[in-house]
Amino acid sequence: MTAQNDAAAVSSKDRVLIFDTTLRDGEQSPGASMTLEEKLQVADLLDEMGVDIIEAGFPIASEGDFEAVSEIAKRVKRATVAGLARAGQKDVDRAGEAVKRAIRPRIHTFISTSPVHMKHKLQMEPAKVLEMVTASVTRARNWVEDVEWSAEDGTRTEIDFLCRCVEAAINAGATTINIPDTVGYTTPEEYARLFRTVRERVPNSDKAIFSVHCHNDLGMAVANTLAGLQGGARQIECTINGIGERAGNAALEEVVMAIKTRNDAFPYSCSIDTTMLTRASKLVAAVTSFPVQYNKAIVGRNAFAHESGIHQDGMLKNTETYEIMTPESVGVSKTSLVMGKHSGRHAFREKLKELGYDLGENAFEDAFKRMKDLADRKKHVYDEDIEALVDDEIVTAHD
Ligand code: KIV
Ligand code: ZN
Repeated sequence: MTAQNDAAAVSSKDRVLIFDTTLRDGEQSPGASMTLEEKLQVADLLDEMGVDIIEAGFPIASEGDFEAVSEIAKRVKRATVAGLARAGQKDVDRAGEAVKRAIRPRIHTFISTSPVHMKHKLQMEPAKVLEMVTASVTRARNWVEDVEWSAEDGTRTEIDFLCRCVEAAINAGATTINIPDTVGYTTPEEYARLFRTVRERVPNSDKAIFSVHCHNDLGMAVANTLAGLQGGARQIECTINGIGERAGNAALEEVVMAIKTRNDAFPYSCSIDTTMLTRASKLVAAVTSFPVQYNKAIVGRNAFAHESGIHQDGMLKNTETYEIMTPESVGVSKTSLVMGKHSGRHAFREKLKELGYDLGENAFEDAFKRMKDLADRKKHVYDEDIEALVDDEIVTAHD
């Protein structure tokens, strides 16, 4: 099947492709660089997890990036391996050289299209930019069949010019068109409308898969990503733990679980084995030394932890009271009921059972009161604290 036929087949089934850019945009987070060995570990896991496209790096950026993309291209069995390139010939050739051994190679080439970027960053007239779109995609097609073209700062681009660039890219052979929200500026409604408009106005738009790529500067990357799908995009660019430039990119785990949990609202399917999400999150956090915030959706330490007595009581009666997805579905072994000053008797009794204690009513009441006193003094009440105070309770009762 040619890349263009493939594009048509995928978009008609409402399957969305997951394009992971942890190793490229993610690595652009200040301080998140990874060694070759670490990148290979992440790439293996992404491939096993079912990611459709792994953006392995930016080959012209450094020798190390070139080597990483080449090595990943050689070893990945299932996913497409992409290398990023600016619109210049040298960039495209370096990316082509790096991905050429992949079973499914892709070159991802981009150029800025917004007035502010063209004037101040590129210092180029729009006509020149348009010329470079055609030239870069044509050159990339000499290397590979699968070419993605991105309009950098697409959401701040004037719509007529954006449509002309998209049309030129598809005419030159691009099979995926990405319209990034490079600076995290758009809103869900606006982003959905942008895709609808471009797809309607560009005559050959059905020849390519449209792609979303959202940054999180206003905390809307995931919402914008999902809105882009509603506007007709069928490829999602995202990163594990949402790492990326500045405030990061759309988090893969959040987008995928939103589709899975709210399939009524987002009726798409994707190929990710969600039970591997926690493993992927831990690996990326470890290799980048970027801690995951405790309350991070899906993979944060507290995502399946409950402290308040009311919530713990509800959870012990039926987990659907306070959980909209199961911990197992994302690879967490179980919900945790954390003991603290908000915990109630029901949860404390369960915790004691779990730790192997069966206290009589009076001893239980004493232990419960002592746990609450301790929780008032201490931020975290660990299982060892509970064991210590219950053991103490038992000794005192025997004295
Ligand atoms: O945010 C962006 O515009 C990018 C492009 C290179 C796709 O990362
Ligand atoms: Zn980006």
